[in-house]
Amino acid sequence: MFVGMDHVGVAVKSLDDAIRVYRDALGFELKGIHVLTERKVRVAFISAGGKTQIELLEPLDSNSAIAKFLETRGEGIHHFAVEVDNIDAVLAEMKKKGVALIDEQPQMGAEGKRIAFVHPKSTKGVLMELVEKPKR
Ligand code: CO
Repeated sequence: MFVGMDHVGVAVKSLDDAIRVYRDALGFELKGIHVLTERKVRVAFISAGGKTQIELLEPLDSNSAIAKFLETRGEGIHHFAVEVDNIDAVLAEMKKKGVALIDEQPQMGAEGKRIAFVHPKSTKGVLMELVEKPKR
């Protein structure tokens, strides 16, 4: 059911500044930058080695969920993401157990991934993302 940790999402005010920190100062490799207009974010994926990544998230406007997070909490860890092999099955199972889901149906993420968020009230206070990668 669960494949492994996929990424940790970090909310940042400026993606360009965050890339300078993670790539240039910390030495990580930048894998790609994506604009997700529906979610009003611009994201950069940074390789943390192996299959694990760091996702830097910059709000595209002040209505973005990331903008609201930055307003109340400031920059920092926003969510963690676990890869699953069948996101529909995992969501159905969690729903059956009464888990609070932000997304009852998966939405499209970057790079053809299907993603869904689980509400922090069901996870001891941390936003959790489920990720199913496209099958080859
Ligand atoms: Co994410």
